[in-house]
Amino acid sequence: MTAQEKSLIYNLLNKSDCLFSGKILSDFEQIDFKDDVEFSNAEQIKSQANTENGTNNPATNSKPYFKQSQDIEQAALIKNIALSIAQCTSCVLCKTRINTVPGIGVASPLVLVIGEGPGADEDKTGEPFVGKAGQLLDKMLAAIQLSRKDNCFITNIVKCRPPANRTPLPEEVQACAHFLKAQIDVLKPKMILALGNTALHNLLNTNAGIKKLHGKFFNYQNIPLLATFHPSALLRDESLKRPSWEDLKIFRSRLLEIVPNYQSSYLNGGST
Ligand code: URA
Repeated sequence: MTAQEKSLIYNLLNKSDCLFSGKILSDFEQIDFKDDVEFSNAEQIKSQANTENGTNNPATNSKPYFKQSQDIEQAALIKNIALSIAQCTSCVLCKTRINTVPGIGVASPLVLVIGEGPGADEDKTGEPFVGKAGQLLDKMLAAIQLSRKDNCFITNIVKCRPPANRTPLPEEVQACAHFLKAQIDVLKPKMILALGNTALHNLLNTNAGIKKLHGKFFNYQNIPLLATFHPSALLRDESLKRPSWEDLKIFRSRLLEIVPNYQSSYLNGGST
């Protein structure tokens, strides 16, 4: 194992500890890790081979390798948060859930999509937005070259299904809020798309309705956040489809300003 890998695992464990214990990274001892001898020889041989045949293979080139390691680290942290969610009994929703629904997507997303809470299909599968509203959400995202497979992470304000799909109660939202905060800290999305009133109210701490605030940008912990109509609302009221599309175009324009080539990250799109 290389010193870099040892340090990565050590930092990963420490960060994970921080997310749940309130410690900060400087509380942990700094360790000067060393490469294992055999591995550093192998690395030397690989980099020599790359130099000799002029290849720039991401699997063996040290810079992309580090990028990949960061993704692995983020994915492991996200998995760890999901494990904590699975064990959570902080509110009554744990009594009626079949599965917790922590979220799904890529480990370094451009966009974090936040809905309200799981419905029946999501409770059954453990995956967010898989029912009719989810299929519409995938189409809305695809229209602006975003998808859960390529460049988004999708989650909810609460991670367990409220009975009969009622709006989550304030105490349920509060009990769950630290999970969303931890997810945002790890994922570091470039932008946030909030879906519907529950996401809007709880993220921006406002009582103003989505009809008033949709399509406008807000600053959420230094991340541009735009709220639009929840896909379930679009399924109930067709007339919201036009303003929803206008919101998505505004969202796309800002994303293009922040990440001009973001559409190149949309690879599998449409096949979600
Ligand atoms: N509605 C939501 O808000 N979230 C889901 O995951 C599914 C439907």
